[in-house]
Amino acid sequence: MVSRVIPVEAFDLVIFGGTGDLARRKILPGLFRRFLSGQMTDDSRIIGAARADLDAAGFRTLVAEAIAEFGGKEAKETAAIAKFLERLDYVSIDATGDGGWTQMHDLMRDGVVRAFYFSVAPSLFGAIAERLHGYNIANDQSRIVVEKPFGRDLETARALNATLAQHFNETQIYRIDHYLGKETVQNLMAVRFGNVLFEPLWNNHYIDHIQITVAETVGVGGRGAYYDKSGAMRDMVQNHLMQLLCLIAMEPPNMFEADAVRDEKLKVIRALQRVDHHHIVRGQYDRDGDKQSYREDAENPRSFTESFIALKCHINNWRWSGVPFYLRTGKKMKSRASEIAVVYKDLGHSIFEGDEARHRNILAIRLQPNEGIDLQVTIKEPGPGGMRLIDVPLDMSFADALGPDAEEVPDAYERLIMDVIRGNQTLFMRGDEVEAAWAWTDPLIRDWERRNDVPKLYDQGSTGPDDALMLMHRDGRRWRDIKG
Ligand code: BG6
Repeated sequence: MVSRVIPVEAFDLVIFGGTGDLARRKILPGLFRRFLSGQMTDDSRIIGAARADLDAAGFRTLVAEAIAEFGGKEAKETAAIAKFLERLDYVSIDATGDGGWTQMHDLMRDGVVRAFYFSVAPSLFGAIAERLHGYNIANDQSRIVVEKPFGRDLETARALNATLAQHFNETQIYRIDHYLGKETVQNLMAVRFGNVLFEPLWNNHYIDHIQITVAETVGVGGRGAYYDKSGAMRDMVQNHLMQLLCLIAMEPPNMFEADAVRDEKLKVIRALQRVDHHHIVRGQYDRDGDKQSYREDAENPRSFTESFIALKCHINNWRWSGVPFYLRTGKKMKSRASEIAVVYKDLGHSIFEGDEARHRNILAIRLQPNEGIDLQVTIKEPGPGGMRLIDVPLDMSFADALGPDAEEVPDAYERLIMDVIRGNQTLFMRGDEVEAAWAWTDPLIRDWERRNDVPKLYDQGSTGPDDALMLMHRDGRRWRDIKG
């Protein structure tokens, strides 16, 4: 199988915060890989914009170092790196003043896509958007890309949307949730809507419950100051897990097109029932020998912020009535593993004598690592001695099925930035979606703040607090093992 790369239109991409962590780790190495693949053509340019007093040469050195550190195996492509660096320029900018903006205006070319990546604190969005217009840098075809966190509650998200709307219309705004750019997350839609096999059974007649797990082994060290004001609910559930839930639960859109998909996702969020606080478990990782606790990592000895959350929720519509969705995510867990498991109902009646009919089909979609799909089916245990049934996985790892092509799968950011240039908003969040997601999470957060809820401690390298296990056990169910 040969992957087909279709070059995108020529572009000028300005990265505000171009010397920052996200730009160095993800955006710039990602763009280099797209350049190497031939998707970013020679007539495109990337312009770093930040406060640092650099010139183009200084920025190129910084980008070369970033590719060496974060570029993966492509970091060895020295000739291509040199060519890529020629596509780079830099403007030292004062986001809230006048410095650098005329220079940026003079750099812009006509006849190419103009995109502006706001890889900066949300507090600067307004000032930058205003200057892009004031200095005639952005035009009606320009696109802006904004990163999460998109607000910290409904009110701040609304204010941000209103600020951006003063200068850009919704079709120009690309709100990134990098989970939507992950190949396997897009595969959720391919599996559901590209196969006849699953959709007829995708409802409360056949599905017992759904589990969504995003487990990480990393802690919050290094970004404790941000994280402590956020916690797992704001950092992961309000966006990444919510998006996964939407893709699993939404009705089939009539076509794979931005507003058709986003309309369906929005309906799911709006149909989410408010979660009772007995169905939420918050956790914080404890000290483990010489490994620091969450509170030490966050440098806040009295922190009540959660580094783990598990919850049970329901979607109030015909398809999902009575089907619980169990969500969990946490830091410092036993493995790095993200998975969605669709657990089907028991057989009900078994024709095999002695069999307790507790066999279940489970469709597990592994998002990372070892991306793939695993379908648990019931078969006869081999050998003589009657019909003894066992459950085995029909395992399809994408790496096995796709061979070397699987290794060439672009990172989420690469895919999403190319979509911005192509003008395709399908994998980006619309303003009303983000607001609806906050409208659901806000009362839950306010409730535990009001009750001064103290997160339960959990061991590093575990599956989270015991209460999270109980959340399932009480319902006669259990979490799937977290296997990295
Ligand atoms: C980010 C969160 O959005 O996603 C981080 O802020 C988290 O806390 C990260 O670690 C996880 O992303 P991935 O792609 O590694 O699963």
